[in-house]
Amino acid sequence: MANSKNWPLSTFGRQLAQGSGIGDLMDDLGHALAQGGDNLLMLGGGQPAYLPEVDLVWRQRCEQIVRQASDLRAVVGNYEPPLGSTVFRESIARLLRSRYGWDLTLENVAITAGGQTAFFYLFNAFNGDFGVQPSKRVLFPLVPEYIGYANQSVTGDMFCSVRPHLDLIGDHEFKYRVDFDALSLASTAAPICVPRTTNPTGNVLTDEEIDRLHELATQADVPLMVDQAYGAPFPDVIFPEIKPRWDEQMILTLSLSKLGLPGTRTAAVIACPKIIQAIGSMNSIVGLANSNLGQAIVQPLLDSGEICRLTRDHIRPFYQKKSQFAQACLHHCFDSSLPYRVHVSEGAFFLWLWFKDLPIHSQELYERLKRRGVLVVPGHHFFFGLGSAGEDQSSQWQHAGECLRVSFAMPDETIQAGMEIIASEVKKAYAQA
Ligand SMILES: Cc1ncc(COP(=O)(O)O)c(C=O)c1O
Repeated sequence: MANSKNWPLSTFGRQLAQGSGIGDLMDDLGHALAQGGDNLLMLGGGQPAYLPEVDLVWRQRCEQIVRQASDLRAVVGNYEPPLGSTVFRESIARLLRSRYGWDLTLENVAITAGGQTAFFYLFNAFNGDFGVQPSKRVLFPLVPEYIGYANQSVTGDMFCSVRPHLDLIGDHEFKYRVDFDALSLASTAAPICVPRTTNPTGNVLTDEEIDRLHELATQADVPLMVDQAYGAPFPDVIFPEIKPRWDEQMILTLSLSKLGLPGTRTAAVIACPKIIQAIGSMNSIVGLANSNLGQAIVQPLLDSGEICRLTRDHIRPFYQKKSQFAQACLHHCFDSSLPYRVHVSEGAFFLWLWFKDLPIHSQELYERLKRRGVLVVPGHHFFFGLGSAGEDQSSQWQHAGECLRVSFAMPDETIQAGMEIIASEVKKAYAQA
């Protein structure tokens, strides 16, 4: 059909309706999963793996719901309150109280359609135009940062981010660390935001780093938002020992997606009651209510401790093993004389690769790999917000065009075959210099 209408778009329309890195990524991922093609090595998206022991629990819960007419009616036939199911919110609060001793009730919990939606609300509510100049911007203390945040502003320029320290470890590893000297909480800074575990790098901020960020947030009296999509208490894809933290200075998000339920689009925001009420208001305006299914599947498993058991016995060990397997493949496939490095893998589903002085940009490497049937995510999408308002300096940091994100959630054969092709394309690219 001819693309005949060319109606002008508002600022909102221009910001959200004209494509994005995350849009391309989800499109690649959705089509690859729908086709299920053997010819495509899908190492791109944040799709969780299908774990038989975990899938079985979801199936059993769905069967229980279907067998009980009143449960099924409640799940598919009812609008729930905009904040989510009261019983589910109570169960989340109870779990966090009993595990971490946090002083929480259901008044501290709001449900949203995934963590992605939660951040859309939070970023737009706390940043942008406050009627004074300059507008406020979210501070990301450490880039590269989750690609899904990059286009979430409805007003435009909303983020500022800070280059990290790069610690080189041995010949082929490295780690980003927050550069506290470079973090200045200017009056234009609104919330501070960090994921724990970080997507794309698999970095886990230490307790000390979180404490220092908390101190900065307290001094400036801005929220410290911690995105726990891969974090504690579920799915807890965090390999080092850490101590999760919450108090009223903080806003946490948890999600059911990386447990293996991304299709239910369910997340929980943990914050002080005023923020929770604001989230409920935004839910009702944007979508009336949330989807009930994920909450119904998971609620009894929160109370029984089954979610924590699945996480401890299956989910975390599975991804830790996959990470080790992917790293072994990487070091096996890459010529050790090449200047490749991998970020220390401390959690999430990805290896983050850095090819120092690569003669081609990561976008070109992505295109070449795609032509050979390997889908990854080029690194430059994860470097946003660098530079002062209005001038994005990410293109001036060569490092941003030298990185790739590679998922290790897929079957071993896919990882192995994909890594071989990545190694051969990188070798070719260095050779052509
Ligand atoms: C760091 C991070 N935050 C948030 C999300 C959003 O996840 P969801 O909306 O499925 O909860 C993702 C998804 O990959 C993520 O990696």
